[in-house]
Amino acid sequence: MKFTGVNLLDELKRDELGDLRDIFSERSWPAGAVIFDADETDNLVFIIAEGRVRVYLAYEDKEFTLGILGPGDLYATHAGCYVQALDNARLLAADVHAVKRCMTEVPAFTRTMVRVLGNILQNTFSIIGGLAFKDIYDRLMDYILIQARDSGETVVEGEDGELIVTLGLTVEQLAQLLGATRQTVSTLLNDMVRAGLLEKRGRGRFCIPDLTALKRAAAGLPGA
Ligand code: HEM
Repeated sequence: MKFTGVNLLDELKRDELGDLRDIFSERSWPAGAVIFDADETDNLVFIIAEGRVRVYLAYEDKEFTLGILGPGDLYATHAGCYVQALDNARLLAADVHAVKRCMTEVPAFTRTMVRVLGNILQNTFSIIGGLAFKDIYDRLMDYILIQARDSGETVVEGEDGELIVTLGLTVEQLAQLLGATRQTVSTLLNDMVRAGLLEKRGRGRFCIPDLTALKRAAAGLPGA
C-alpha cells in the first residue's frame, strides 16, 4: 500500500507546525540498543528521524520481527512490542494524548500511520501464514523473492546482466524475521548456494542466476 505525498519529517518542518514540533523531544540510541520494552510505561508516539528500528515480539529466547521502520515512519509504545535500534537511531517522541490533539490537523500523520500499520499487518499475515503452512526453507525463499522484486538490481558485468539481491540484514536478523535460529538460516542459505539457486556476492549480497528456477523452487515445483 503506497501513498504519494509528503514525508512526515518534511511536513513537521513547516513553519505553521511549530507548536506540534514542540511537543516532540529528541533522543538517540546506538545500534543494537533496545529502545522500548513491550511493557513500556510511558505512552508515547514516536517518529524515526534517523536510522532503522526493528519492531518485534519476544518471549523467552524467541523473537519475531513484525517490521523494520525507517526515517519518517511512526509507531507507538502502547502497541505492546519491543523496539530496537538496528543502526544508530534518533527518535522524536511525544505523549500519545498530546499527539491525539494535533494529529487530525496533519494528514501526513494518518497517511503514515496507515502505511506503517499496513506493512506491519502484511508482515504479520505472512508470519502467521508461514508458521501455519510453510516450513522455514519456503519462508526464506519467499523472503528472498520479495527482496528481489522490491529492491533487486540488475548489475551489468561484461556482456550479461546479473540480478543482485541485497538482503540488508545479518543472518541473525534474518532468523528473527523468519522465526528460526541463526544456524538454520545459515545452513539453508548454504544449501541454496549449493543447489545453484543463489551465488554469494559479499556480505548479505547474492546473485540470483535464474529467477525462474528460484520461483519454481519456492512454489515447490520440480525442475528447479
Ligand atoms: C503508528 C502507530 C500508532 C499510533 C501513532 C497510535 C496512536 C494512538 C493514539 C493517538 C491513540 C489515542 C489515545 C487517546 O485516546 O488519548 C491511540 C489509542 C489506542 N491505540 Fe494506538 N497507535 C498506534 C499503533 C497501535 C497499535 C499497533 C495498537 C495495537 C496493537 C494500538 C492500540 C491502541 C488502543 C487499544 C488504543 C485505545 C486506548 C484507549 O482508548 O485507552 N495502537 N493510539
